[in-house]
Amino acid sequence: MAEAKAGELMEKIVSLCKRRGFIFQSSEIYGGLNGFWDYGPLGTDLKRNVKEYWWNKMTRLRDDVVGLDATIIMHPRIWKASGHVDTFSDPMVDCKKCKARFRADQMHEIPCPQKPSKMASECDGEKTEARPFNLMFETVVGPIRSEENVAYLRPETAQAIFAQFKNVLETSRQKVPFGVAQMGKAFRNEVTPRNFTFRSREFEQMELEFFIKPDEAVEAICGRVAVPAGPGHPGEPQPDWGWQMWHQYWVEERIRFYEEIGLPRATLEEYWQKPEELAHYARATVDLLFKFPFGTQELEGIAARSDFDLSQHQRFCGKPMTVFDEELKAAWPKLAPAKQDELRERYYQARLKYLTKAGEPAEKAAQLARQDAEGLTKGYYVPHVIEPSAGVDRMALALLCHAYSEDQAPDEKGKLETRVVLRFHPRIAPIKVAVFPLLKNKPELVKKAKEVRDLLRPHLSVFYDEAGAIGRRYRRQDEAGTPFGVTIDFDTLGEKGPELQDTVTLRERDSMKQERVKIADLVAILTEKIR
Ligand code: GLY
Repeated sequence: MAEAKAGELMEKIVSLCKRRGFIFQSSEIYGGLNGFWDYGPLGTDLKRNVKEYWWNKMTRLRDDVVGLDATIIMHPRIWKASGHVDTFSDPMVDCKKCKARFRADQMHEIPCPQKPSKMASECDGEKTEARPFNLMFETVVGPIRSEENVAYLRPETAQAIFAQFKNVLETSRQKVPFGVAQMGKAFRNEVTPRNFTFRSREFEQMELEFFIKPDEAVEAICGRVAVPAGPGHPGEPQPDWGWQMWHQYWVEERIRFYEEIGLPRATLEEYWQKPEELAHYARATVDLLFKFPFGTQELEGIAARSDFDLSQHQRFCGKPMTVFDEELKAAWPKLAPAKQDELRERYYQARLKYLTKAGEPAEKAAQLARQDAEGLTKGYYVPHVIEPSAGVDRMALALLCHAYSEDQAPDEKGKLETRVVLRFHPRIAPIKVAVFPLLKNKPELVKKAKEVRDLLRPHLSVFYDEAGAIGRRYRRQDEAGTPFGVTIDFDTLGEKGPELQDTVTLRERDSMKQERVKIADLVAILTEKIR
């Protein structure tokens, strides 16, 4: 029953997205392309607002994060170093009877194409053994189709940040700890794309790689490594923070971000991955989940990736990815010899573990780890990283699902009817304010309304609408999620007395309450409400 209701709700959301121009099927006129979606006029602005808010919050409002805009196709060795060529795969199963292909771990959730009343795992079609299917899209660079010209569409934006780490460090005047943020398209050839835009083959990511000192360096400099005292935001970053503090800091910062775009903490679930679920590079990962109508699913992962990524690129490209830390160099000689030995040994063991796991022969691993540990004593290390990685399309879908609501509102004759409203936070609403002349056939009203539109336009996104009864126009904007409506009526023209001249009604979408405000105050009132 609950499942049927959730399915019904999802159908309503999908239909609203199409009807109002939020999301269309890609290539729809040719029957669509599975796993690809386009954003229509309203969806484009919704997504743009989310991305702009992320970008401002992550870079412009911070001193310690800078931006990057890298190419989608990069040197294929990047994906060898990152592990994607060898391990970025899902287990795939074929049905010998109907030839359909499934992700082995999702067969119990996907209906059989021939017998939709049964799940693929239960139907009588014989299945092949599960085998790995690499999710990267391949392409060929240049005119010759050969093995050595094969390249990949990036499956994540993160790797470009690691590949450009040195260039950014050298040009940005940043020092560890600092971060590099990037937004952009990523591609994964999902075996079974589904749940509307949730699992798409082409999607957009917003990723931050925040580089931090290894705990051994923090301890050498500060004499201690701060660890979280309990749950919650740990406050302003401090020099003695180790990776666990930074990880918790970014989890909490990201939850604040969601609250600020209208997804309260109560709508999110924090899931700490179990050790056996962690990706090969991760020390800890927190998934922020949202309760979609089709199930509770991941919006963002915040991973503590240790120094795995930069270390991999260092080994694969043969160029050092270490940084020189003046503070560490100055602090080291002041440490007691026993402390020096302890930190050197800890760092040696950590590097040895990584190098051994990476497949270096024992002797070479020990030699490289020794060099790294000696490097630490002189102020050199490979930075560790905390990565908050969010999916823009998932976020937009979560915002649409959370915003969707139905209530009862009176129609033109006062009779209650069902009203569909998208209760977006004004910050991310595609249109901020709609401007309406009460009547279309009164030139004075139309002229004044257009003046108000032009007054507001430089400050916020405005939609001007003069077509149809005013109640209908309100409903259209409610469905688009427009938080405010401004109506120009006969009072505005001063027909009921000079005290109301040049005032308008300002209607609030959710409460439907109207107040009378001066046109001269509109910009200030609205920009304050939308900020
Ligand atoms: N960079 C992590 C991810 O794409 O999932």
